[in-house]
Amino acid sequence: MMTPKINICCIGAGYVGGPTMAMIAAKCPDCRVEVVDLNERRIAAWNSDELPIYEPGLEDLVKAAKGRNLFFTTDVESAVRRADVVFVSVNTPTKTFGLGMDRAADLRFVEAVARTIARSADRPKIIVEKSTIPVRTAELIHTILAHSGNGMRHQVLSNPEFLAEGSAVADLENPDRILIGGESTPEGREAMQVLVDLYAQWVPRDRILTTNLWSSELSKLVANAFLAQRISSINSISALCEATEADVDEVALAIGADSRIGPKFLRASVGFGGSCFQKDVLNLVYLCEHFGLPEAAAYWEQVIQMNDWQKRRFTVRVIRALFNTVAGKAIAIWGFAFKKDTNDTRESPAISICRQLLQERAVLHIYDPKVKPEDIRSALGVGEGDPAVRVAEDALTTVNGAHALLVLTEWDEFRSVNPAQIFQQMMKPAWVFDGRNLLDHQALRTAGFRVEGIGRAPLPGA
Ligand code: NAD
Ligand code: UDX
Repeated sequence: MMTPKINICCIGAGYVGGPTMAMIAAKCPDCRVEVVDLNERRIAAWNSDELPIYEPGLEDLVKAAKGRNLFFTTDVESAVRRADVVFVSVNTPTKTFGLGMDRAADLRFVEAVARTIARSADRPKIIVEKSTIPVRTAELIHTILAHSGNGMRHQVLSNPEFLAEGSAVADLENPDRILIGGESTPEGREAMQVLVDLYAQWVPRDRILTTNLWSSELSKLVANAFLAQRISSINSISALCEATEADVDEVALAIGADSRIGPKFLRASVGFGGSCFQKDVLNLVYLCEHFGLPEAAAYWEQVIQMNDWQKRRFTVRVIRALFNTVAGKAIAIWGFAFKKDTNDTRESPAISICRQLLQERAVLHIYDPKVKPEDIRSALGVGEGDPAVRVAEDALTTVNGAHALLVLTEWDEFRSVNPAQIFQQMMKPAWVFDGRNLLDHQALRTAGFRVEGIGRAPLPGA
């Protein structure tokens, strides 16, 4: 059976909009997909050979479809007019002012998009919430459309995105599930069927879940809250391991072997980062408070507090070990992205750790394989000539004259470094603080390093 041709517009050409639409264009050659954004630089980058975001496999995916059935443009209104289905994939950051500050989602971009659609649409559309939003946001979109449009009844669906950065292409190609929420009216069911048929072109039908609108909206926040909670749980245990000589990776292996717990997302670390976890947990906290459930709010807030503590605890360990002062000491930082295989630094634990070390007047030599030097400096609020921060072009040059090496992102290339070679270049005693338990600690120790991992007893130098 021929699939009907669908015109798709996605508003928001970011980490979600770009890769998601590239996958739809690749898998549904009969669809025409336009990705639009107000940010001209971003659109120009999508149209160039140097994409605005780094994701393994993304370049090939985009190249294959760009100009065929995938287009990037700043002409939002025309693209909305042409579209049958409009995905909303704009940013929904934490509010930084006023009511709900530091907790609630800032929905001004979603509202602006709803107003644009109301203004531009000359026929009913299927509007798909791809952004992560608070439960009942579809109501807000409906209200704006109903009052500022020309009386047309659009359908609003919820279709949250579960991709993780660094594995976005693989996640989009082979998702655990696709979640679609909609109204249980005949029109609502019809709209959901359009989206189900779209995804069914490459996702097995039994992985496409349909629910009511509010369950779908809420499930996205809850999924991220549960994932973040697992990391905070294992990180809380890492502190206990450091105090007792248990090894957190062995504990994770032992508990993860229980099929009811499962082995994934139990890697103790220097803390979780990324644009989603903190924002979405805080959003959940706000919703619980808003609906008069302070006990539930306090429960989830603890996930964030534990994460903040984990980052602070790591920095304090560094300072304590280095004889209680890092002032004027060079410290090598390996990795600045919030996880490997991405150039994204949003909420990266490296930012708060480096800022705390700078307050202690350390001199930082930073290297990350994918994050641009200007992005590192801007995240730390320092200028190019600032002597406190030197951004290096490779891992080896950062350790020259350094008192300690901090591993903050788990990039594979760090594993292949020869411990004896870096030890030689560093001040003595030389420390490695492995915030990801990435390196071979015994080999480092043999080379002469003092080693402190996460959730492990410190190894004194050989
Ligand atoms: P992003 O900041 O990378 O991209 C959002 C884009 O929307 C920006 O380029 C911005 O210019 C554009 N935009 C904002 N308002 C606009 C408007 N009125 N018209 C046109 N363009 C507009 O954000 P992102 O990381 O892609 O996240 C988007 C949404 O997806 C968020 O709600 C986020 O929580 C959710 N999400 C993100 C991830 C992730 O891994 N980054 C994963 C799942 C879900
Ligand atoms: C997350 C969710 O996984 C994804 O489903 C959602 O759509 C967006 O938010 P992302 O933030 O891109 O994805 O990456 P993720 O792999 O979840 O890692 C988040 C942070 O947790 C990273 O800083 C990572 O290093 C850290 N982490 C992850 C751990 O510290 N330990 C783990 O076991 C797993």
